[in-house]
Amino acid sequence: MTTPTLDGGSAAGDWWKHATIYQIYPRSFCDTTGNGVGDLGGVIDRLDHLAWLGVDAIWLSPIFTSPMVDHGYDVADYCDVDPLFGDLDTFDRLVAEAHRRGIRVVLDWVPNHTSDRHPWFVDSRSSRTAARRAWYVWREGSRERPPNNWMSALSGGSAWTWDETTSAWYLHLFTPEQPDLDWSNSEVREAMHETLRFWLDRGVDGFRMDVVHLIAKPDGLPDLPGGPGDVVIHIDEPEVHGYLRAIRSVLDEYPQQPMSVGEVYLLDPTRVAEYYGDHDELHLSFNFSALHGRWDAGHWRAAIRSAQRAFDPVEAWPTWVLSNHDQTRHRQRYGGSERVARAAAVLLLTLRGTPFLYAGEELGLVDAEVPPEQRHDPAGRRDGCRAPIPWDASSTHGWRRSDNWLPFPPEAGDRNLETLRNDPASIVHLYRALLRIRRQSTALRVGSMELIDADPALVAWERTAGDERVVVAINMTDRPVPFEPPDHSSPWTVALESSGAVGERSSLGEYPGAIAEQSGVVLVPAAT
Ligand code: GLC
Repeated sequence: MTTPTLDGGSAAGDWWKHATIYQIYPRSFCDTTGNGVGDLGGVIDRLDHLAWLGVDAIWLSPIFTSPMVDHGYDVADYCDVDPLFGDLDTFDRLVAEAHRRGIRVVLDWVPNHTSDRHPWFVDSRSSRTAARRAWYVWREGSRERPPNNWMSALSGGSAWTWDETTSAWYLHLFTPEQPDLDWSNSEVREAMHETLRFWLDRGVDGFRMDVVHLIAKPDGLPDLPGGPGDVVIHIDEPEVHGYLRAIRSVLDEYPQQPMSVGEVYLLDPTRVAEYYGDHDELHLSFNFSALHGRWDAGHWRAAIRSAQRAFDPVEAWPTWVLSNHDQTRHRQRYGGSERVARAAAVLLLTLRGTPFLYAGEELGLVDAEVPPEQRHDPAGRRDGCRAPIPWDASSTHGWRRSDNWLPFPPEAGDRNLETLRNDPASIVHLYRALLRIRRQSTALRVGSMELIDADPALVAWERTAGDERVVVAINMTDRPVPFEPPDHSSPWTVALESSGAVGERSSLGEYPGAIAEQSGVVLVPAAT
């Protein structure tokens, strides 16, 4: 077992509020065995990069034993590492090595469904009287007509599959290989709590909880009112809050202050904020409403305001995310320019709330082009953002081979870590500078935040903690826009400017009065 060696420092209390969390899709991070798929040894090998970059925690997309129909989001054993990624000893080494560098480790926990190969489901489907029959959602009836009109969120067909063995339907909100657990069954809840304890005992610092809002189903499983096209992924039932409180009690048994962040896929921040409970449910939840918008100042001002209105009154700590393993990378969504990717980095890392970075974002990657015959995703649309990370300029980009499970992103010859690290003006240095400024500034990490009235082309805000003040302005248009920081009687200094040189505060000088096109600026009061 690993003893965490993290020194708490200022981040000891509520470390997850201060942290920047870096998402790793292990299949695509770094391969040490030469099979074309990344592994835990590869994560260990790249920890020095993450320490250099300055992130505080890593979140590993699922590493548990899995037939990989949905690349680990179909779990066959919650208490082991899939051999593709390594074993428990490698995992323990990863936790120790990460902690030695001051980096916490967050796992992806998939509570809504298991794999159809999980021994629990194998037993459940074996007979109507099986010990674990009631651990999943079964309905008898006519094989001609599924029990309700719910559609699978991944495969597009019915969310029910007819099982010949016992002549009954089972529910799967995702693929047929991902049967839903029945969380109203206390045996299921206890068994799932034990899986959390298994990893917490090994020193894990928290969990990203996959579609956790879906674990409570509506009584009687009625048809969705919107008809078959209605979106099952927005189920939001009151019972979920009791389940979350019980999960929180398990986390609170542990001294390392384990954190939970829920993938609560509700696009209304007010409903998302309810998942924090009275500080006794989730510590954090993703707020995807911001992610689904354009690169547009009006959109971002509205997204920030609606998050403030939803989260602030109940003291729920916000989160911000621009990219992940399910979405086209944001540089591409926002039109593909380097300037926009750089300005977006300033946005993400200076808003009030915990930022989540998706591996490769610091290189400014866009999605790989994946020909149909090379696609693996059961939904058929998420392979591009899951492409292998290019580490160097060689033909295999730091991987053991050039033909990995997915092709590299375009531009990997220039946009790889080695090349970008050698260029002090590159985007990876911008991310690093932002993370450094953030670490040094209480105002940026945990200070209050107020939007500033400014030109409609800009999103601008002020962060404050005690005497410390930081102003951020992002210009989301293609022309320079004048901007007056508050109290402009006293001079402001440019601490960081996304499109220009990236340096220490002192090197950038006095604020000139306008924000360049497609760029973000961090201003601090000039030293007197
Ligand atoms: C979440 C994951 C996604 C997965 C789905 C089913 O949305 O992020 O990758 O396919 O849940 O587990």
